[in-house]
Amino acid sequence: MQQKIIILDFGSQTTQLIGRRIRELNTFCEILPYNKFPHDDPSVIGVILGGSPYSVYDPVAFKVDLSQIRGRLPILGICYGAQYMSYTNGGNVEPAGSREYGRANLTNFEQGNPLFKDFTPNSQVWMSHGDTITALPHGWKTIASTETVTNAAYQSDAEPIWGVQFHPEVFHSVQGTQLLRNFVVDICGSRQDWSPASFVETTVQELRQQVGNDRVILGLSGGVDSSVCAVLLNKAIGDRLTCIFVDHGMLRKNEFRDVMHDYECLGLNVIGVDASDKFLSDLAGVTEPEEKRKIIGRDFIEVFNAEARKISDAKWLAQGTIYPDRIESLNITGKVIKSHHNVGGLPKEMQLGLCEPLKWLFKDEVRRVGRQLGMPEHLITRHPFPGPGLAVRILGDITREKVRILQDADDIFIRSLRDYKVRLKGEEARKVLAAGVPANMSEEGEIEVSLYDQIWQACTVLLAAVKSVGVMGDERTYEHPVALRAVTSTDAMTADWAHLPYDFMAKVSNDIINKVKGVNRVCYDISSKPPSTIEWE
Ligand code: XMP
Repeated sequence: MQQKIIILDFGSQTTQLIGRRIRELNTFCEILPYNKFPHDDPSVIGVILGGSPYSVYDPVAFKVDLSQIRGRLPILGICYGAQYMSYTNGGNVEPAGSREYGRANLTNFEQGNPLFKDFTPNSQVWMSHGDTITALPHGWKTIASTETVTNAAYQSDAEPIWGVQFHPEVFHSVQGTQLLRNFVVDICGSRQDWSPASFVETTVQELRQQVGNDRVILGLSGGVDSSVCAVLLNKAIGDRLTCIFVDHGMLRKNEFRDVMHDYECLGLNVIGVDASDKFLSDLAGVTEPEEKRKIIGRDFIEVFNAEARKISDAKWLAQGTIYPDRIESLNITGKVIKSHHNVGGLPKEMQLGLCEPLKWLFKDEVRRVGRQLGMPEHLITRHPFPGPGLAVRILGDITREKVRILQDADDIFIRSLRDYKVRLKGEEARKVLAAGVPANMSEEGEIEVSLYDQIWQACTVLLAAVKSVGVMGDERTYEHPVALRAVTSTDAMTADWAHLPYDFMAKVSNDIINKVKGVNRVCYDISSKPPSTIEWE
């Protein structure tokens, strides 16, 4: 039986990160809302309670009954999770004198405590909380402190309960993964047998059982998730998988041609549909971002369905849905910022069953599975690309000429990012390697990767409603600016603008202005998310 760790979600942005760290320890885990613990699942070997935007004493704070778990399974509370267990067992939690945020060091920790096995003195941890545990419940003991936080970590004497007020899941907690390993492997007894190879093997078998001799349809986007999904299904059922790849006319330069070529090389049975005329004529004159997204979503379903209907013996629809798309996260604000569009609403008369083989995987795991399946590296490391494509990167209405300008500028930016190599070490190198980028570490502890691989996502935005004056040769120009955007992120929930080298920016700006007709100015977007989103529309 596949062992699993359950992570209970109390609404913190870092909960998914805890999940990813545990998967990196080759251990399967599930993130569930705080009140949905699967009491009848015998495969659970341990429980983690995550952070929360609330204070434990807040009347609206999320409360959970742990009585059926306590004593039976090891529990680790992180931040709110630690404060919650302490507070609800007679301890005291109060607002910290000053908000404890940022790097701190464990000035002492209990030697010999299994949670701190192989820890080095003064280990750096990351704190992020407005409250602090000022008194522990009777019979519980402090097992680590920092200069300002006495109860940085605790343990219950009578039960397998631990709590840490810092965040072991974030990179700045240098031995955070070691702490999670100590909990998951030593305390909970994980066999660490969750790997890309074991995933491929069991998933191929499960897919064969699920779809039998039926035919399956899959919508390909050119992105890593749907591509890996297709290759996995192809391995399981071969030609009984039919893929549909729709060109809505707003893909990157030559993307339709190149991606079709890649898919054919991978042996996939793909139908390419050029529907650019339909999309572009339906979008003509439309400027409002949400309106644009809705038209593209609607047209996409129409085009996809028309193709799907032709495959009349299909019984299943496969989708490259991944775990972060499904996690029933506690959306505290409940507000929709952008309506992300993906395939949905298939013809009812087809009555297709849903097949989602990647639904348990995080993005970096999808990439590892892609490598395991022997897919080309450029498909695997491809940056995320939004369903509506360049439509949300052309501000204002869309024309073929504007798409052409943006494609040309974007092509220069992306190719330059791939060509420019950087040497990284320390924390920066760790981040890139943890994201699954293949690179060898030199004896000096350095890795060489391209700028493209160092960042999460890059894009070019055409400020089509703006024109400015320039000069080229002896001629006055009056053309559009483009904005370049490159961000670092782990999950696109939050993102920082990437600090690209000045010599790189100078060359890209020069190349774009000299080579792309219609552009005479290049800007760089230095906004973080939040408050700005990654895409401009
Ligand atoms: P934002 O702009 O909301 O984007 O910060 C977060 C991530 O989602 C991608 N994105 C989309 N992906 N359909 C998609 O499949 C969409 O409609 C869509 N809109 C944005 C975006 O590129 C970024 O990676």
